[in-house]
Amino acid sequence: MHRDMTNRKVRVFPDRAALARAAAMHFVELARSAIELQGRFSVALSGGTTPEPMYRLLAAPKFTSQIDWQRVHLFWSDERCVPPDDPASNYNMAWNSFISQIPIPKGHIHRIRGEEVPAVAAERYEQELKDHFKGGSTRFDLILLGLGEDGHTASIFPGSVAVAEYKRLVVVAHHPRTRQQRITITLLAINAAANVTFLVAGESKREMMKQVLSGLKSPDEIPAIGVHPRDGTLLWLCDQTAEST
Ligand code: 6PG
Repeated sequence: MHRDMTNRKVRVFPDRAALARAAAMHFVELARSAIELQGRFSVALSGGTTPEPMYRLLAAPKFTSQIDWQRVHLFWSDERCVPPDDPASNYNMAWNSFISQIPIPKGHIHRIRGEEVPAVAAERYEQELKDHFKGGSTRFDLILLGLGEDGHTASIFPGSVAVAEYKRLVVVAHHPRTRQQRITITLLAINAAANVTFLVAGESKREMMKQVLSGLKSPDEIPAIGVHPRDGTLLWLCDQTAEST
């Protein structure tokens, strides 16, 4: 592990399996600590493919036995505007990977309703966040994020209005190439979290990870650069192929 000049922590693992194990343990540690200190653990899951091996481990006996799922609340950092049973749905991936196998109360699964009209889904999700955090600051115990090759994170894409959104917690976005509509939390919500953890793997992310850690570009060019929790930890968990230092 090493810290760079902005007190970010970067932990590098030899392969994706080791990365998944470390990420699952990190999840368990933060969950146990939050439940002990405040009686619940509120976490926003990342989408994409990188977290899937970690999610599968969360349903494995070694890890799931360490978590009091009755006290966990699952949210998402973003969602594609598709039905929950669509293969492109981030909820669908998490459901199949571990949620379907854990004893979590249905009311603790705060799915973004990708099947609804996007603007309605975004408003509903923002209200659900505010209700959950009871009008205080929307401070997740953990937000998991991925990194796109173009520097996006969640569904905050380069040059999009979402980058500069500092009033709303949740906005509608669209993928610049596929035009697929998305619902995403904003940097306002991300930077209020107690812990933000990027999971990054693969040679294709190396150059972008290097640019993010250098911090030399603007969040408008590389939205992941805009992630710096005001009063929280920022941790990068990556495999060796993505490591850039
Ligand atoms: C999504 C994610 C997105 C993802 C990155 C990395 O909905 O796709 O929120 O931000 O984390 O694009 O995706 P991979 O893990 O598939 O590389």
